[in-house]
Amino acid sequence: MSKGTMNKIVIIGEGRVGKTSLTLRYCKGEYSDTQESTINVSYLEKTVQVNETDKVNIAIWDTAGQEKYKALAPMFYQEAVCAIIVTDITFKESFDKVKMWVTELTSVLDPNKLIICIVGNKCDLENNRQISKQFAQEYSQSVGAHHFLTSAKNNRGVDELFQYIEILKRQK
Ligand code: GTP
Repeated sequence: MSKGTMNKIVIIGEGRVGKTSLTLRYCKGEYSDTQESTINVSYLEKTVQVNETDKVNIAIWDTAGQEKYKALAPMFYQEAVCAIIVTDITFKESFDKVKMWVTELTSVLDPNKLIICIVGNKCDLENNRQISKQFAQEYSQSVGAHHFLTSAKNNRGVDELFQYIEILKRQK
């Protein structure tokens, strides 16, 4: 199956929020405290067993968060069925551009078909939280997105996020 016909999920967000860590945790069960920044985009595939008999192939496009690569991101939105916008709960500014990304995504893709998830990562660092759960939840709801909390480090909420996306896809 070609990349284009797979179930495509695109991951976006500011630099260092944990996009690659979430992807690696989910696809390979790996995590590193010294994960390096992504250059441009990276691509991983995974086969997901959705029920006893059915499997789906998903392709995860992990975009670079650094400012210098930002202009390229919309190119990778094409044909995505789901977009995961990752924020870091310990870094308030990581939420600043969420609205812009939602607007950008829904201008490129059909808002009626696209699933948007807003993720608060690094929830193992609860004591350093700068973004309240209630704010993130209410905001997500207001833009028609789904909100999740994850820790790529402690493997919290990661499988649940991707499992829930499969459920949402079948409801679309
Ligand atoms: P860019 O490629 O620069 O856009 O970064 P990214 O969003 O892909 O972040 P990346 O996965 O490279 O992680 C950035 C840093 O945060 C690394 O040092 C990770 O180890 C760390 N990190 C990622 N996820 C978590 C998490 O859940 N908890 C904690 N405590 N640290 C995390």
